[in-house]
Amino acid sequence: MTPAEQSARSAEICRRAPVIPVLVIDDLAHAAPLARALVAGGLPALEVTLRTPVALDVIRAMAEVEGGIVGAGTLLTPADVKAAKAAGATFGVSPGATDRIIAACEEEGLALLPGAATATEVLTLLERGYTVQKFFPAESSGGAPAVKAIGAPIPQVSFCPTGGVSLKNAKDYLGLSNVLCVGGSWVAPKDRMLAGDWDGITALAREAAALR
Ligand code: 3PG
Repeated sequence: MTPAEQSARSAEICRRAPVIPVLVIDDLAHAAPLARALVAGGLPALEVTLRTPVALDVIRAMAEVEGGIVGAGTLLTPADVKAAKAAGATFGVSPGATDRIIAACEEEGLALLPGAATATEVLTLLERGYTVQKFFPAESSGGAPAVKAIGAPIPQVSFCPTGGVSLKNAKDYLGLSNVLCVGGSWVAPKDRMLAGDWDGITALAREAAALR
């Protein structure tokens, strides 16, 4: 999968809804009801972070949920990329981008949303053909003003800012011409998952889906 094909796929995913939920899931039993709750609320693209022992099984379970587009986040190594693809992830997200991660995604045919936080990182990825990138960590890297400033000289790159984004500041990003969507964990709070409050999570998803 070429970088251009990956970016086209990433753009398509990012345009499905204003928010990509960033999910940290400890209990495999939460996978299917959580995915159903988020999809029902209007957020079809789901990023399952590879930060818990059950993450790959969660991807497998969520991939069965109708209407969901399941990706793997926290891709740190080529082995992560292979495992994510094998589990059924249809896109991948990395906090930064290395040659090895990029090469693995190209080989495996996994659409990568690669992370960048500075103009040089953005340009390096653009040179490789990645026109859709994750701006990470968004708030601590300057927030919406930084994304806007990078867009002045480099308008051909679009972003999914993630990291510190919430209901309060999401609109600051979503109003920028170089932002396709944002990523955030606020739509799937741990306490609601533990309580099995799937309706509450659908309500949070609805609120996020209406941001734009
Ligand atoms: C992450 O990697 O955890 C994401 O950037 C989500 O960040 P958030 O919890 O601040 O939304």
